[in-house]
Amino acid sequence: MNAPITSPIAWYRRPRATHAPIGFEARLNESLDVLREAGQHAPCVFAHSLSAEDMVIFHLIVEHAFPIQSFALDTGKLPEATLDLWSRAEAIYSTRIERVMPRQTSIDVLNAMNADSALYENKEVRLRCCDTRKTEPLRSVLAGKRSWVTGLRRAQSAGRAQVASTEYDSTFQLQKFNPLANWADEDVWYFTDKHKIPFNALYEKGYASIGCDPCTRPIRENEHPRAGRWWWEQTDANAIKSECGIHVAANSNSTPKEN
Ligand code: ADX
Ligand code: SF4
Repeated sequence: MNAPITSPIAWYRRPRATHAPIGFEARLNESLDVLREAGQHAPCVFAHSLSAEDMVIFHLIVEHAFPIQSFALDTGKLPEATLDLWSRAEAIYSTRIERVMPRQTSIDVLNAMNADSALYENKEVRLRCCDTRKTEPLRSVLAGKRSWVTGLRRAQSAGRAQVASTEYDSTFQLQKFNPLANWADEDVWYFTDKHKIPFNALYEKGYASIGCDPCTRPIRENEHPRAGRWWWEQTDANAIKSECGIHVAANSNSTPKEN
C-alpha cells in the first residue's frame, strides 16, 4: 500500500503519533518482504547512512536476522553526531557496521585542488569530492555483490518520486532494494518512537536530512527537508534535486551526475 501523500516533516515539527498511521502495518509487511527478498539475493549489503530511515532498516535487519551486512561510507567529513550514533547503534544492536573509507591517494588529489573550499564555488569540484569520498568507495564495496539495500523513499524529494521497492541498478550493475520506498515521514518517526530506535542528535537541532558536515545545514521552518543539502546549488526550492552520485540511476537508466 502506498504512503498517504504528505509533505515531508522535519523532526522538530514531526507528529508525535501514538497510533499507527493509516496503512502502516501493510507498508511494514511489504518492507519485511522486500528485505527477505534482498537477503535471498546474496551476497547482499545495506548502505547505512545513520539517517532515521536507515536506523529503521538496521533495526529490521537485526531483529529479523536477515543475512544482510551493513556498511557505512565514512567520507572523512561526517558530523560528530553521526559518528556518535554509529558507535551507539553498534553497541545497542551488538552488530558491526563496516567502515568503508576513500583511498588516501584520491584524498591527496582533492586536497591539492583545495576542494574543501572550492566545492562551494565550483560544482565540478563538489562532484569530484562526492565521487572520491562516496561513489568510488561504494563501487568497491558493491563489487562482487548480488544486491544492495538503501533507505531511499519516494517522499524524500521530487527526484526520488519514482523510486521502486526493487529495481535494477544500472550504474553499479546489481539489484537494488529500497524497503522503505513507500514510507511517509510519519511512518519513520512512528516506528522510531515505538521501538525507541536511537537517532542522530542533529534532528533535534533543525537538521532534516543529514550528510557530510560541510554540505549539510539545518533547515528553516517551511523549507523542504533536503533544502539543507548542497543548499548553495539549489535554484528551485520546490524541486530539490542535487544528489551526490550514489543514486543517479534511482529512477532512470541514465547515468548523469545528478537526477
Ligand atoms: S545522498 O545521496 O543525498 O547522500 P541520502 O543521504 O538521502 O543520500 O541517503 C539515501 C541513501 O543513500 C541512504 O538511505 C543510504 O542507503 C545511502 N547512503 C547515503 N549516504 C551514505 C553513507 N555515508 N554511507 C552509506 N550509505 C549511504
Ligand atoms: Fe564532499 Fe560534500 Fe560530497 Fe561529502 S557531500 S563527499 S563533503 S562534496
